[in-house]
Amino acid sequence: MNVMTGKRILLGITGSLAAYQAATITSKLVELGAFVDVFMTYSAKKLISPLIFQIITGRHVYSDEEWWQINQKQFFNEKQYEADLMIIAPASGNTLSKLANGISDNILVYTAMSVKCPIILVPDLDLMISDNIATIENIEKLKSRGIQVLMDSGEKEKNQMVSVDEIIKFSRLFLSKNGPLEGKKVVVTVGATRESIDPVRVITNRSSGVQGWSIAQAALDKGAKTVLITTIRNRPVPFGSEVVRVDSAQQMQEAVLREVLDADILVMTAEVADFKPMNYSPHKLKKGDDIAIIELTQTEDILWHVAKQKNESDCPKITVGFASESQNLLENANVKLTSKNLDFIVADHVNNIEDNQEGNLNRLTILYAGGEVEIIDDVDRSNMGFSIMERIVDLL
Ligand code: CTP
Repeated sequence: MNVMTGKRILLGITGSLAAYQAATITSKLVELGAFVDVFMTYSAKKLISPLIFQIITGRHVYSDEEWWQINQKQFFNEKQYEADLMIIAPASGNTLSKLANGISDNILVYTAMSVKCPIILVPDLDLMISDNIATIENIEKLKSRGIQVLMDSGEKEKNQMVSVDEIIKFSRLFLSKNGPLEGKKVVVTVGATRESIDPVRVITNRSSGVQGWSIAQAALDKGAKTVLITTIRNRPVPFGSEVVRVDSAQQMQEAVLREVLDADILVMTAEVADFKPMNYSPHKLKKGDDIAIIELTQTEDILWHVAKQKNESDCPKITVGFASESQNLLENANVKLTSKNLDFIVADHVNNIEDNQEGNLNRLTILYAGGEVEIIDDVDRSNMGFSIMERIVDLL
């Protein structure tokens, strides 16, 4: 489940070169659970077959040929009013011009002019006309009417359609506005902290961060301002989130205590190191240096500090912790729930830590501060954020 699930999206395709990419846009929207109704101009149909979209969406594809058939007209009129979003991608210079000037001589422009839902327009312009004053004015006109125009700001590509990935990410974020967490700030910690031994060696753990990513995405989908405090560097962050990069438990603690001062929700999925080397060597330790033992000292418990700070700042309103346990799951998780002053804790069983970090299907046990215990079975790790966020929204 995500913000696209069950949404009705009208996808307008016009006759410009990037029309072939509309097939990928459609399949990504469908993959995310949206119902997509495709509208094609006469020129778009010359470039790509409507059959492709019919197969991907499993739905009728609308074009000018049937526009004047009474039944069809009635049918698509009804659909327009149910729509959550209209995306026109690619939008040719010709369609921009028609839209800006109210020339509704085809099914696509007519639909765009009559829908009540927001519109995202993704231009794909011929280099020869992209700098023309008429094109520039048309775009400005459309923007001033509240239409979202999605274009690359880079000088070189500004005439070309932005990537399919950008279109999907932008549409997703756009649809999440007015969600149940609108105006709320959610802080999510993700990844394994790294405690330095010397400039090249660290003590860390196997946390993959998949769960945290999914929670941050779910917070965004619910319309929250989302701050990701993470040690993970090599994965694109969920679009729309603010990112604070940290390394050690100490840095994570500082970032968390600062960010939660005005936050509504804190979700601590990070696997924070419990121990760090007592002494950091500023020079790389050499094989010849006779070190048999690295002395360790305990790190601070971040959630304990959050609870202490909350006494003064009253923030965050809700704190959620995670616990991976290899034995006595309920007992151990319950101790953490109380000692860290959490609203709930998500516990899972770790029989094999490596499988657990990368594996998909899982059973989660949620222990609430009030004493209730909830079991969620068959959770897809990369999708579990939605289930957790639903519970947070209920608590709020
Ligand atoms: N946590 C924290 N600060 C730490 C260690 C953990 O805030 N120094 C948070 C984690 O992000 C998680 C929760 O506490 O949300 C439980 O983490 P876990 O590692 O299971 O618990 P620990 O308190 O470290 O206990 P132990 O490792 O002994 O089981």
